[in-house]
Amino acid sequence: MITAPIQTASYLLASILFILSLAGLSSQETAKRGVVFGIVGMFIAVISTVLGEDIQGHVYILTAIVIASVIGIWVARKVEMTAMPELVAILHSFVGLAAVLVGYGSYLKPENQAMTGVEHNIHVIEVFVGCFIGAITFTGSVIAWGKLQGSIRSKPLIYPGRHFVNAVLVIVCIVLGVMFTNAEPSMGVIYLTIMVGIASFIGIMLVMAIGGADMPVVVSMLNSYSGWTASAAGFMLGNDLLIITGALVGSSGAILSIIMCNAMNRSFFSVILGGWGQVATGEAKAMTGEVTATDHDEVAKVLEDARSVVIVPGYGMAVAKAQHPVYELVNKLKKGSANGKEVRFGIHPVAGRLPGHMNVLLAEANVPYDIVLEMDEINDDLNETDVVLVIGANDIVNPSALEDPGSTIYGMPVIEVWNAKKVIVMKRSMATGYAGIQNPLFFKENTNMLYGDAKDSVDKILAHLN
Ligand code: TAP
Repeated sequence: MITAPIQTASYLLASILFILSLAGLSSQETAKRGVVFGIVGMFIAVISTVLGEDIQGHVYILTAIVIASVIGIWVARKVEMTAMPELVAILHSFVGLAAVLVGYGSYLKPENQAMTGVEHNIHVIEVFVGCFIGAITFTGSVIAWGKLQGSIRSKPLIYPGRHFVNAVLVIVCIVLGVMFTNAEPSMGVIYLTIMVGIASFIGIMLVMAIGGADMPVVVSMLNSYSGWTASAAGFMLGNDLLIITGALVGSSGAILSIIMCNAMNRSFFSVILGGWGQVATGEAKAMTGEVTATDHDEVAKVLEDARSVVIVPGYGMAVAKAQHPVYELVNKLKKGSANGKEVRFGIHPVAGRLPGHMNVLLAEANVPYDIVLEMDEINDDLNETDVVLVIGANDIVNPSALEDPGSTIYGMPVIEVWNAKKVIVMKRSMATGYAGIQNPLFFKENTNMLYGDAKDSVDKILAHLN
């Protein structure tokens, strides 16, 4: 057992470690240290809470921790890097569900039922707001998980008057909240349950209305919601550390969502309100032109003749796990050229399925940071580039985003690879990417398609270069 002052000191230490963890995660060089701070902070947080003076039933808690740790370790070891966003989304849903359950527990606790006056009012408002945010986070995250996994269509589900319906539902929840504050516990539980049902429906409809290309923002937004949910649970449980940790997660998730909206030229409110003022204005343009296929031998020759090469990786590079042979290719091109070939990477902010997904893969393959450039840094140089190798990318190099107001990704900045002299696109087929739309890049005269698995293709090009 630990005393209250020691627990407070432990909470303070854990809070500092969480802040250091966030600071560490802000750059690739310090990210590992950031993760270690986070792990140590969470360990201190759990131990000092479980050993607190007012905690009972240690055997049950310990059993739950052991079972949950085994499941957590098993899932984390098993999950593929490409499935990480789904895992993150489903973990957010657990935070939402936990907050709802904490809300019911806290409301029905006999000591809390005995509260009166202002204390009672504050407590029931905490319970009501916590359950409201928790229910939206829970169902919204489950839908996001389904969309990211492909079991729910990524196309936005939009019906006329949906904003009006959502607004009416929120007003009904506010009215229920007022009735809940003044109700006897037996009626209070009924009001709370009706509100949880409505909030769950709002969570489903908000995320169902968001289209494929905006999903990255939704995942970070749900991350933010899960933080505020945890904070609300902290208020209900009277746990300061949970309030602080939740606020850290909530605000960092909100900042990440805004950064991603800026990167994708989307209005933050448009996305979080489920596509308010969608940018697509009509039908997407039909594809014109012919698709030209190429082979590994030809690509090797094109690369040998080029003076400047830019590699644009996307989700397909992650699926194929091609990052190591891609870096081998970079080294081969640089070493094999007497005329000083310049080889660089161009990274789109939402390439892959996670913020920083491509940077993580390239860092894993030991690609030096100085040849990895952001979209804005590389776009101006593409006019002067001889060859762009697009490796498993699709939406992030789609010219419709700039040229076709009818396209669902219209307005999103993309890497303008078609400005280079030659573009080689490596993918397995003509299939669409995450946004589910066709790509006119593949039909352009200076584009050649190299079909096949990205790793296999890079290996074969390397063999030809040898
Ligand atoms: P996508 O547009 O999804 O395109 C990836 C392409 O890779 C597919 O067209 C696929 O074509 C190809 N591919 C798949 N497996 C492959 C393999 N083994 N070898 C070679 N090619 C393979 O990816 P992107 O260009 O990176 O764009 C990212 C998209 O995901 C954006 O729409 C973005 O909004 C969305 N998104 C991003 C995030 C974050 S935070 N980054 C989160 C959620 C969603 P084939 O099937 O023909 O091979």
